[in-house]
Amino acid sequence: MVYQIYPRSFADANNDGIGDVRGMIDKLDYLKDLGVNAVWVSPWYPSPMADGGYDVTDYCDIDASFGTLADADEFVVGAHERGLRVLIDLVPNHSSEAHPAFRAALGAGPGSPEREMFHFADGTGSDGSRPPNNWGSLFGGPAWERVVGPSGPEQWYLHMFAPEQPDWNWVNPAVVALFDDVIRFWFDRGVDGLRVDVADGLVKATGYPDTPIDPDTGLGIASFYPGHPWWNQPELEAIQRHWREIGDGYADRHLGERIFVCEANTKPLDALMRFVDAGRMHTTFNFDMLWCEWEAGSLRAMIDRNLVSHATVGAPTTWVLGNHDCTRVVTRYGKPETGRPFTLDGPPAEWQYRFADYFTPMPTDNELGRRRARAAALLELALPGPAYIYQGEELGLPEVEDLPDAARQDPSFFRAGGRTKGRDGCRVPLPWSATTPPYGFGTDAQPWLPQPPVWAELSAAAQVGDADSTLTLYRRALAVRGTHPALGDGALAWGDTYPGKVLYFTREPGFGCLVNISGAPVDLPSGAEVVVASAPLVDGRVPTDTTVWLTLASD
Ligand code: GLC
Ligand code: CA
Repeated sequence: MVYQIYPRSFADANNDGIGDVRGMIDKLDYLKDLGVNAVWVSPWYPSPMADGGYDVTDYCDIDASFGTLADADEFVVGAHERGLRVLIDLVPNHSSEAHPAFRAALGAGPGSPEREMFHFADGTGSDGSRPPNNWGSLFGGPAWERVVGPSGPEQWYLHMFAPEQPDWNWVNPAVVALFDDVIRFWFDRGVDGLRVDVADGLVKATGYPDTPIDPDTGLGIASFYPGHPWWNQPELEAIQRHWREIGDGYADRHLGERIFVCEANTKPLDALMRFVDAGRMHTTFNFDMLWCEWEAGSLRAMIDRNLVSHATVGAPTTWVLGNHDCTRVVTRYGKPETGRPFTLDGPPAEWQYRFADYFTPMPTDNELGRRRARAAALLELALPGPAYIYQGEELGLPEVEDLPDAARQDPSFFRAGGRTKGRDGCRVPLPWSATTPPYGFGTDAQPWLPQPPVWAELSAAAQVGDADSTLTLYRRALAVRGTHPALGDGALAWGDTYPGKVLYFTREPGFGCLVNISGAPVDLPSGAEVVVASAPLVDGRVPTDTTVWLTLASD
């Protein structure tokens, strides 16, 4: 089980309102007690924070607001001492406009080797005042920004995300070499693996062909569709095989395995599976569970298609309910529409992954959402393969939907012209203790995003002794998962004991998982004993929106 830390919002040890590495070190025992066996740390590199650290100026250092390289080393050592492996974010698609290589490229001018590190192109129109093509950015607006040099406007550069995030040119061997050094730098320091940001977007098709117009924006479609000129280009394979060789070199030196996890939205699933072919990456996120609606048929189809596809390549399936890019699971499941319907072919073809979908303006019932999120957590943790938990999921935190616009920082909010509220609502600093802000995040400094009053009852300290709390549920489930021979990797078998709206599967030896989404209570299988339940049984029956883990009678 991998726990995602978003450093800015995790714990603020020096009380300046921003989370830091020292805060992460202080919470290592909390993570160990939770039952985590690996952490993934979102970017901690020096950054102007135009995109929460996903705009990197130096890939081999730590942002001063987060601490020092010595702190990072101490974190890795401390994690290892507690049996936790450490994955960090690698952001290879783009840098920061403040990265020295980009500053050099701006200064060096058109046609220079410095500009070849990025995607610079001449504009169109008689005076070059129109972008090189029609591409739109994933954060809204055009994907090209015009350079204004000492003698006026000149070339344009490409940014899939914010203009502060110029894209690296991955067909240039100098870019490959630069990242080889970065990868070795962290592997040499003992980091166990890399979560590769935008892993399917690194290479752009030659000639930058236009994409069809997105009616929402009037610009070329930015999100994935098969054949899109910046997603899943064939050259990715060589890059991934090359990285894999670097990682495998460490195992040969008896320094332990180094792994790569892709962040990729490539569809269909068969195409995504190529990323985890032998000799390529170890695992890839698949976000199907995150986008899937809370409905038995959709969930079962989503689970089956993932297990079947991953089995064909022998890679473990990953399960994700949330991350720093989407509405928190409690709130998603508290809405009248809880996600997308799934079939064995996936979500409906007309549906595209868009940042605008991260915030859906619908009424929310967080109590219902939390009940379902607890049930979903037990489902996620019972499935074969690694599960990811985004910080605060274990506390049952809802999305903070009513952040004042003045407090928002996500560039996707500013660039999308109000079509999306952006991702700040899932990044509000965690409540650790106390009943008033900053709720133990720091000592008294106000955090970089305001925390809501409901944080008082949801703090870790408020939940730790409470048998019914979400934190207690996670601890219990992770303790069972850590020792139960049927859990972790392996297979599952669907039971046919229940009709449509109940998911029921077994895993050997002697484990059953029952997820009731039927709207009415159901009986336990005969002879089964409850090991963990996401909500209390009622008259010995499993109520709706509830998952139970079972020990099955041996026959
Ligand atoms: C990934 C990150 C997201 C970031 C984007 C650009 O999707 O998860 O937070 O904004 O890449 O780096
Ligand atoms: Ca701090």
